[in-house]
Amino acid sequence: MQKAPKPKKPKKNELQFTVRSVKTEDIKNVYKLLVANRPYVGLNSRYTYFLLAKDFSDTCIVVEHEDRIVAFSSGYVPRSRPDTFFSWEAVVDDAYRGYGLQRRMLLHQIKTLRVAYFEGTVNPSNQFSENNFCELAKLLNAKCEKTMLFSEEDFENDGHEAELLCRIGPISPNELAKHSASFIEA
Ligand SMILES: CC(C)(COP(=O)(O)OP(=O)(O)OC[C@H]1O[C@@H](n2cnc3c(N)ncnc32)[C@H](O)[C@@H]1OP(=O)(O)O)[C@@H](O)C(=O)NCCC(=O)NCCS
Repeated sequence: MQKAPKPKKPKKNELQFTVRSVKTEDIKNVYKLLVANRPYVGLNSRYTYFLLAKDFSDTCIVVEHEDRIVAFSSGYVPRSRPDTFFSWEAVVDDAYRGYGLQRRMLLHQIKTLRVAYFEGTVNPSNQFSENNFCELAKLLNAKCEKTMLFSEEDFENDGHEAELLCRIGPISPNELAKHSASFIEA
């Protein structure tokens, strides 16, 4: 018997995504998304995410498709480096991978915050995330410097992979203006 063909994924430009700041009411669904996407995305306590939604909603976003949260990206602007957006975690629902949502969310955050530098960390085995950082640097015509932020030893070899820092910049406002994250803004 012939196998039924796999349903085709809608083409890249066929889906419309809405972006907005995260709210505390979203955390229930954001948490479910994170749980489903371990291990690369480190799962922290719900309390951490509530605090992000409460106090860092200007730098943390959710992306929705048909009123369902399908992606989340968190980060902050460190007080000591006000020209930098530090990206902490990004996650895209498995069914919505391949639409460039990680890159698009980061671009959106860089554009909204008008920062000159982007920083994000990757675990050495997370090729998808590392590729996305490299692509983002290329898109913005900026350098990407990689250094060790925290080693496995720093985590006392408890199974947490090293966190390699990718610092992208300087990002020129002209370069940034050339690109759109292509989201509908809520
Ligand atoms: C990293 C991540 C956010 C990237 O998602 P994304 O923005 O949809 O990725 P892209 O659009 O760049 O995907 C490019 C290709 O890689 C594939 N891909 C992306 N992530 C993948 C994964 N984890 N496993 C298998 N394939 C993956 C996509 O399906 C796509 O394939 P296609 O070109 O054939 O359609 C996503 O993989 C994810 O949520 N991973 C778990 C959490 C994580 O690692 N977060 C980053 C560290 S905090």
